[in-house]
Amino acid sequence: MIKAHGGRLISRIATEAEQERWRAELPALKHVTLNRRELSDIEMIATGAMSPLEGFMDQRDYEHVCEHGRLANGIPWTIPITLAASSELIAAEGIQSGHNVALQSDDGTVYAVLEVSDIYKVDKEREALTVLKTTDTAHPGVAYLQKTGDTYLGGRITMLQRPVHAEFEDFRLDPRETRFLFKEKGWDTIAAFQTRNPIHRAHEYLQKCALELVDAMLIHPIMGETKFDDIPADVRLECYNALLKGYYPAGRVAMSILPAAMRYAGPREAVFHAIVRKNYGCTHFIVGRDHAGVGGYYGTYDAHRIFEEFEALEIGITPLFFDHAFFCHSCQNMASQKTCPHDSDQHVFLSGTRIREMLSRGESLPPEFTRPEISEILQRHYSNESASVAS
Ligand code: ADX
Repeated sequence: MIKAHGGRLISRIATEAEQERWRAELPALKHVTLNRRELSDIEMIATGAMSPLEGFMDQRDYEHVCEHGRLANGIPWTIPITLAASSELIAAEGIQSGHNVALQSDDGTVYAVLEVSDIYKVDKEREALTVLKTTDTAHPGVAYLQKTGDTYLGGRITMLQRPVHAEFEDFRLDPRETRFLFKEKGWDTIAAFQTRNPIHRAHEYLQKCALELVDAMLIHPIMGETKFDDIPADVRLECYNALLKGYYPAGRVAMSILPAAMRYAGPREAVFHAIVRKNYGCTHFIVGRDHAGVGGYYGTYDAHRIFEEFEALEIGITPLFFDHAFFCHSCQNMASQKTCPHDSDQHVFLSGTRIREMLSRGESLPPEFTRPEISEILQRHYSNESASVAS
């Protein structure tokens, strides 16, 4: 089985003894309230999905990650995993390095304890520029940085309670569980597929090309916070289930939800996505066109090229790079520039905006672009949406 990033799968879920100890201390602890992304990060860290991280980054790791795409010890890591608070709140609460702090949600539920080892002011513009490659506030990652506090708290966490998810409990496997599943199934090579969208024909093509090469595939949709106009999680899950039922060999495909938030950090996020999937036990990771991109901030294949900055062994999981895929009327097949000799007027291409327009008007998407079952689910979603807007 492939090793976790850094060599050891982390667990920061409180043992019974730790629960008892922390629960006794809780009434005396100061509190910091988490936003949705931070709450999902806690779950990711505690279950080992973000191994070797054991908590939120201290300044050394944070700066190394921003500047070099590596932790301070040199291990590749491309996305800052941070806990933000305002300097006013930290001063008002009297939080200092060395304190233990309870991490809670809006409704006051405490999910974890942070052993604060560092408190540092940050230059958000610098972070945006180094990680997201832009300071444009129209970028959802930049907008996020703008609305969070100016100071970061670093330190190890212990999760006392898992975030309760009202939905999809059957599809939430932790890294230990996916690893167990792969072993039980006898799968040695597993390609992971990251997605924040319904699965269209191009996605399916990538997955099936990969399936020709490896033992199995893990469809691993990200279902933490996504931007407002991405398709909601429940609709996506309905699409994934319909597709799995109709078009995939049951014995070679598994699906599970990744609780992480999308960062829309393009190439940096592609490396992060790959490393996280290694922690889940996958050996291969699919990276297509403009992976984790948004708008026009990243070049189509920047997310391929960034892997050249690392030794293959340092990343550990093998990226499977795919060119832009499309249906070609002349080939009567899915293809890419690598396999298709025809002009682009033979290729089916629909932009996100065009897809939304068609679905909003109640039109079905062409079967060359999306399987009819998926088109139907999406049409229903859009008609429900416009009905709720109208009422
Ligand atoms: S992402 O934010 O998760 O990357 P999306 O769900 O659209 O967005 O993409 C999932 C994966 O499929 C990514 O690796 C992306 O690069 C790839 N992909 C999406 N559309 C295409 C396409 N038409 N051709 C090639 N790769 C694609």
